[in-house]
Amino acid sequence: MTDDKNTMEDLVSLCKRRGFVYPASEIYGGINGFWDFGPLGVQLKNNIRDHWWKSMVECTPAGPDGQPLQIVGLDSAIIQNPKTWEASGHVEGFNDPMVDCRECKTRFRVDKIATVTFSKDGDEILSTHIETESASTAFEDAIASLNSKQRKLLKKAGNDVKTSARFLNDTGDGSAVACPLCGGELTEPKMFNLMFETFVGAVRNDDARAYLRPETAQGIFLNYKNVLDTMRVKVPFGVAQIGKAFRNEITPRNFVFRSREFEQMEMEFFCHPDESGRWYEFWKQHRMEWWKSLGISEQNLRFREHGKEELAHYSDACVDIEYRYPFTAPDFGELEGIAHRGCFDLSAHQDYSKIKMEYFDHGGKEADDSRYIPHVIEPASGLTRGTLVLLCEAYTPDPDRPSGVYMKFDPKFAPIKAGILPLVARDGMPEKAVGLYMDLRKDFMVELDIKQNIGKRYARQDEIGTPFCFTIDGQTGEDGTVTVRYRDSLQQERINIDGVKKFLAEKL
Ligand code: GAP
Repeated sequence: MTDDKNTMEDLVSLCKRRGFVYPASEIYGGINGFWDFGPLGVQLKNNIRDHWWKSMVECTPAGPDGQPLQIVGLDSAIIQNPKTWEASGHVEGFNDPMVDCRECKTRFRVDKIATVTFSKDGDEILSTHIETESASTAFEDAIASLNSKQRKLLKKAGNDVKTSARFLNDTGDGSAVACPLCGGELTEPKMFNLMFETFVGAVRNDDARAYLRPETAQGIFLNYKNVLDTMRVKVPFGVAQIGKAFRNEITPRNFVFRSREFEQMEMEFFCHPDESGRWYEFWKQHRMEWWKSLGISEQNLRFREHGKEELAHYSDACVDIEYRYPFTAPDFGELEGIAHRGCFDLSAHQDYSKIKMEYFDHGGKEADDSRYIPHVIEPASGLTRGTLVLLCEAYTPDPDRPSGVYMKFDPKFAPIKAGILPLVARDGMPEKAVGLYMDLRKDFMVELDIKQNIGKRYARQDEIGTPFCFTIDGQTGEDGTVTVRYRDSLQQERINIDGVKKFLAEKL
């Protein structure tokens, strides 16, 4: 990945051009905050999803004692009884403070706008509030509108402020009054709930109101007792789920980074309260290693502990795993949160449902210790965001090749593992290519591409990140060999056509 500020524009365009991600409802002008994953995007996303499921559920990690952890899977409904969201605190607390511009009618999330407040005489910076997912062009526009005194002040305050100033006022009372886009007057902040509402059944009244889930996690808490009663699990154990979540985000942006419909991969790990600190540390380290195992370079990943004031209503402690996205660089943005949720959710559902959520430890020795509501450690990651991270990480400009860019996916996650290309569409070459394709496709996601000149076909395979191409040429008919072309080094070598399957198995 490069830090070029055009990278994001180029990547979005490549994603559209090559079938990774399309704007949703494009023929009707799109719909803000919604995206469709194309044939290659869904393949890439499924590869990440399957790897998470495999390493979380089918082949669970070893715990600190070296024994495999107990984690089972779940697929709960997207719409649940609305009491779920009252108990979880989402009806009351899943709000963002919003301001509207009275002039251009744009709505902004107060805590996400970079603000720089000058004193009345303009001599002093009273406060700054810096946005993390920077929208650099808007900032540059704002910088351009500063007077020289303000510029000097910002310069003195350091680079961060300089590159982030976009919301300016000189009232001197610290309140934000100017729209960052048009300079218009802003309304007082109002709270705005992020849950999408719908109605269940034919009647549209308050009793029929329901919500699309804003997180997959609650479906797990609702089924905690079912899992405990039907599966042979004992605390500590986990329940994992992958699925869609919906948030009516105020400012969806940065491609699929913040969208209104997205996928999460969440696991709730139920443990003894006294051991929760240890498990929090365990999952924190384990999840970072997992992201690295996808081929993401260490320098683009980091931890960020949440300050007390930043914690969600349910959380005792939280750390984010952050990635250096092209639109945040040199800063980082969230990829996954690992939260210590304490016993908040199970206790809340116990209060609202009157169903006991206590765990009875038959092996417990002291009476007090044997009955408790487990604490929960939650690694909650975005599958949509994870897919974006692999796209950003793979994006590699290379002026020396015809495509000008290639996608350097780790072969394990590449949507297409190999291209099967006859050099020309005659002389028996297509038939041989079809034969090889029919054989390989039983084990690998491979693509057969017969027509067009070979250079163009290689260029396309580079842009979609195919790590290997097998070319059938005149020599294949003579000695049974094909050319392997390596995406990264562009080197070519000949191997026997019968050895192609083994070659791929070894490389993947
Ligand atoms: N159950 C806890 C929870 O939902 P979160 O930090 O709000 O925590 C977890 O969400 C992950 O879901 C985030 O780290 C991010 O990867 C992803 N995510 C959250 N909101 C998103 C959005 N609007 N668009 C894309 N991904 C999002």
